[in-house]
Amino acid sequence: MNEACTFVIFGATGNLARIKLLPALYHLEEAGRLSENTAILGFSRKELGQDEWRNLMDEHLSSKARGGIKPDVLDRLHKRMHMHAGEMTDAESLRKLKDRIYSDSNLPNNLILYMAIPPSFYSRVSQAMADAELNNEDHGWKRVVIEKPFGYDIESAIQLNDSLHKHFKENQLFRIDHYLGKSMVQNVLVFRFANLMLEPLWNRNYIDHVQITHSESQGIAGRAGFYDGAGALRDMLQSHLLQMMTLVAMEPPANMDAESLRDEKVKVLKSLRPISRRAVNAHAFRAQYTKGEIDGEQVPSYLEEDDIPESSTTETYAALKLYIDNWRWRGVPFYLRTGKRMAKNSSVISIRFKHPPQQLFRKTQIEQIKPNWLLLGIQPQECVRLEMQVKEPGLEMRTHTTTLDASSCSVSNLQLDAYEGLLLDVIENDRSLFLRYDEVSWAWEAVDPVLKAWDSECDFIHTYPAGSWGPDGVQKLFDQEDHYWRNSLD
Ligand code: BG6
Repeated sequence: MNEACTFVIFGATGNLARIKLLPALYHLEEAGRLSENTAILGFSRKELGQDEWRNLMDEHLSSKARGGIKPDVLDRLHKRMHMHAGEMTDAESLRKLKDRIYSDSNLPNNLILYMAIPPSFYSRVSQAMADAELNNEDHGWKRVVIEKPFGYDIESAIQLNDSLHKHFKENQLFRIDHYLGKSMVQNVLVFRFANLMLEPLWNRNYIDHVQITHSESQGIAGRAGFYDGAGALRDMLQSHLLQMMTLVAMEPPANMDAESLRDEKVKVLKSLRPISRRAVNAHAFRAQYTKGEIDGEQVPSYLEEDDIPESSTTETYAALKLYIDNWRWRGVPFYLRTGKRMAKNSSVISIRFKHPPQQLFRKTQIEQIKPNWLLLGIQPQECVRLEMQVKEPGLEMRTHTTTLDASSCSVSNLQLDAYEGLLLDVIENDRSLFLRYDEVSWAWEAVDPVLKAWDSECDFIHTYPAGSWGPDGVQKLFDQEDHYWRNSLD
């Protein structure tokens, strides 16, 4: 069993705590993975009683608990939950928090300090933590969890990293990218490195191009303040999509320890061909949704969403074409795209293989052999699917596409949320699925020219109707005429 700790949540009444953290802790409780004395301490500016906080969290838990709430599990979780009111940027408040923890035998001195707060507060809160000596490991370890986005661009990421490093050692920092906690994202590694079969084909000689798509039918979900300043490129592409790309493209690590894994991911990011300012339009496309229909319901345009300035040109859709200039991938385009208010929720990695070198069937009824695709469904459907050509039954020489399908690769229907595994990793001090600073900084480096160009050209943005698969015109990113977006697994 892991060591007992106090899991301190800064922003205890916020969305992240409600939607992700408490449900994940509930499921860890259910699975018996929390040590007996582990406590959860909510830190919030609001003066909330313990019961009020529990009730607030319970409202959400009931919809998130797999198979419905189990009263005995909830009861055990409630017993761990404590509340502390204070000002998170004020060292004096945090000193009181520390004194309480150190003097209350229900609160272990090993601390997880989870910043479930707006990113603009990370620096100030970490300074206040240090002033209150919450970084001091003399009486138990101290780990800080930081959510993405880590910075707003390269410059701010450097500043944030410097200010965190002033007070915390690197091995105390856990930069979370929750996509790395998704079981199918981890399966990309297993699929590649636990099977020999595809490895000889996994390179520029056989792979024509790679697509990584993340589409969402939901809009900005009441996060106007954050989203309008960020946009799709910062919110999704710089982090989650680039992380998925590194897993597809990386070399086998020397072993599965955190540093070896992260070394290989960094090598991929370092090998990305820089996009020059002049080439931004050939490599990147952005757009914003107008009103439309999703699942039979009319939805407003981005500009009509609450608290969005009417002249905003923030992108809700971003697509990039990237090249990894190394021996394995040189010349293979990686197309990445993401959007809000698209036709459906889906994350898929689609890998298209090249055509066979000889058109053997040219003189038959087979007009054109379709290339093989390998589809890795990340969510909602988890699957590994290989599309192949086979002969149609009958006298004619015709083909159709069939699939070798491992839809049930996640053996049971157990759909773990990414946060469950990641929170356990923090408790158990496993950093392999957390980002090292150089990964974050190389990822900013990759998108920086695009961010700068888009920030300076803010008088026009392409549009797409809500409920569609994105804007017209994005096809111009494709390298070849026969490239097209794979929108579904079928
Ligand atoms: C978050 C983004 O990091 O990821 C959100 O800020 C996005 O805008 C979310 O909706 C998507 O995560 P998931 O796990 O629902 O695919």
